[in-house]
Amino acid sequence: MSSLYSPTVLGSLSLQNRLVMAPMTRNRAPGNIPSELMAQYYGQRASAGLIITEGTSPSPNGLGYPRIPGIFSEAQVAGWKQIGQAVHAKGGKMFVQLMHTGRIGHPLNLPAGARVVAPSAVAAAGEMYTDAEGMKPHPVPHAMTEAEIRATIEEYAQAARNAVAAGLDGIELHAANGYLLEQFIRPNSNRRDDRYGGAIENRARFVIEVAEAAIAAIGKDRVGIRLSPFGVFNDMPLYEAMEADYAWLAERLNTLGLVYVHLVDHSSQGAPVVPDSMKKTFRERFKRTLILSGGYDAKRAEADLATGKADLIAVGRPFLANPDLVARWKADSKTNAPDFNTFYTPGPTGYTDYPPLAS
Ligand SMILES: Cc1cc2nc3c(=O)[nH]c(=O)nc-3n(C[C@H](O)[C@H](O)[C@H](O)COP(=O)(O)O)c2cc1C
Repeated sequence: MSSLYSPTVLGSLSLQNRLVMAPMTRNRAPGNIPSELMAQYYGQRASAGLIITEGTSPSPNGLGYPRIPGIFSEAQVAGWKQIGQAVHAKGGKMFVQLMHTGRIGHPLNLPAGARVVAPSAVAAAGEMYTDAEGMKPHPVPHAMTEAEIRATIEEYAQAARNAVAAGLDGIELHAANGYLLEQFIRPNSNRRDDRYGGAIENRARFVIEVAEAAIAAIGKDRVGIRLSPFGVFNDMPLYEAMEADYAWLAERLNTLGLVYVHLVDHSSQGAPVVPDSMKKTFRERFKRTLILSGGYDAKRAEADLATGKADLIAVGRPFLANPDLVARWKADSKTNAPDFNTFYTPGPTGYTDYPPLAS
């Protein structure tokens, strides 16, 4: 008996199956405004139980990559509204991933008046692509003041309200993969000596306050979070207390009562292994929905649901390349391979032109 394709609930929301489309940045939002092309792309993939959108900035300061969408202006909210309608029309559900890029960005990608910010003035190793001048080293970010931290928390809360105003079903806080929220959690990027730095209770304060503000804005059934314990992407090295820090966080997030925790695992792409003990800790300490992701095929997804390792399984690249992934996996049909060359390029090629199964 398959559970992957059977309906379930996420908080107060009914999902048509347990397969989640993982958040994927696709850089198809000219001027940072969600486009009609995006509505077509997400609409094509609406047979997922839940779609988590690409990283979407709650703030002008968080638009570190070119052509990523925001959700802070009226035009952006109107764009998301069209996308939500396209997904809902086919019975799908959609959470928008709130991604503030923090120090992973470049002024050339930001709108006028915005700036690259982070917990501390520590540049990330590596480079950022800009449409204007190609690859550029990550700049030294501006270390946020307490007043700026408060203003950023309010930007997240407003973005959450905007998501609901656009008719979307909720938000996912992107606290993974080296972006602003994780930059606060990790000691290599957070060197602060105020109440937002130092012990885990302090390094986690920003993410907790953002979660509290989002919950106050739209309710805990509409707020999930993505975390990447043992993730090293975007210059986030492993450190001694990693597992203990995230165990503490699992407990704290449970107290807050967010609707889900979504764990990243990029070990199938060569990243460090996320120990089973870490996933188990989240399973035990966090009582609501747990989403696992990374390198899943249908068989492994079924197995992890059957053994209770996870409640939902998120899938990235297979969904990118197969608009009808649910039908294909269910029928055990072959799948299209993703074309890496068009992951982040503008336009429909490699975006909305992956063919569905012939009917
Ligand atoms: C093109 C692309 C863009 C991605 N963008 C995001 C993103 O915006 N936010 C995020 O949390 N993860 C992002 N990811 C990571 C995916 O959500 C997922 O964790 C990863 O692809 C591993 O899952 P998979 O093996 O099923 O593809 C991205 C992955 C890809 C391939």
